[in-house]
Amino acid sequence: MAGPTALVSALHEELAAVLGLMPDEQQQMSGGRTFWRGHLHGHDVVGVLSGIGKVAAATTATALIERFGVQRIVFTGVAGGLAPGVRVGDVVVARQFLQHDMDASPIFPRHEVPGYGRATFDADATLTAHLTQVSDKVLRELPAALGNEVVHAFGLQSPRCHQGLLVSGDRFVSTTAESAALRAALPEALAVEMEGAAFAQVCHDYGIPLAVVRTISDRADDAAHVDFPRFLREVASRYSAAIVEALLRG
Ligand code: ADE
Repeated sequence: MAGPTALVSALHEELAAVLGLMPDEQQQMSGGRTFWRGHLHGHDVVGVLSGIGKVAAATTATALIERFGVQRIVFTGVAGGLAPGVRVGDVVVARQFLQHDMDASPIFPRHEVPGYGRATFDADATLTAHLTQVSDKVLRELPAALGNEVVHAFGLQSPRCHQGLLVSGDRFVSTTAESAALRAALPEALAVEMEGAAFAQVCHDYGIPLAVVRTISDRADDAAHVDFPRFLREVASRYSAAIVEALLRG
C-alpha cells in the first residue's frame, strides 16, 4: 500500500496507548501539532492528536493529506451515546457523518453544508467494514482483560458494536435537554462527538478514505462529565489501542 495510514484521536489519553505500539516513532512538528511517524505491523503510519472541535479537526486532516501524504485516515476516540440502545462501553463505527450545529437556514436546509448540496458525508465502505469486524472482536475479548472492577464500575458487561450516523458539533453535550433536542432533530444519530464530520468533509474534498470508531464514554446527559477522565484512561485508551492494533495486524 502506497502512502502512510493516519491514526488520529482528539485527546492525549486516546492516542497514548496507540503510540505505545509504535516502536520507532519520530516526532515532526507542523502547524503547532506533533506528528509521530513510524511503523505498526509493517504499515507506515502517522499518529497525531487532532485537538478538540471541528476547526482543529479540519486543519489536522488537511495537514495529514497535504503534508504527510496519508492515503487513509482512521480516527479512534470517545463519544456520547444518543440513540436509546447506545450505552456506555458500547462502540459506534460511523457509516455517515453530519454536523449537527451546521445551520445556514433559511438560505439552505438545516444541516446542509453550503456548496455541497448535502448534509451527510460517507465513511469509506471497505475500511469501515474492516474496522467494524475488528471492533466487534475486540469488544468480545477486551472487557474481560480490563478486570472485574473496571467492568462493574462502568457497566461493561455486554457491550455492543453499532454502525450508523455519527454527528459532530462544537460543543460537549452535557445536558439531558440538549441530548433530547438532538435526538428529536436527528432521530437516526447514534452518538455525538466533536470532530468526525469535519474529518469527513475534508476527506471528501481530497478523496481520502476515512473510518471512525468511537467508544461511548457517556450518554451526553446531565451526568456526561462524571468519571469522564477515568473512562478515558482506563477504558477508551485500551479500546483504541486494541482496535488499531487488530486493524493493522489484519
Ligand atoms: N465526546 C464524548 N462525549 C461527548 C459528548 N457528550 N458531547 C460531545 N463530544 C463528546
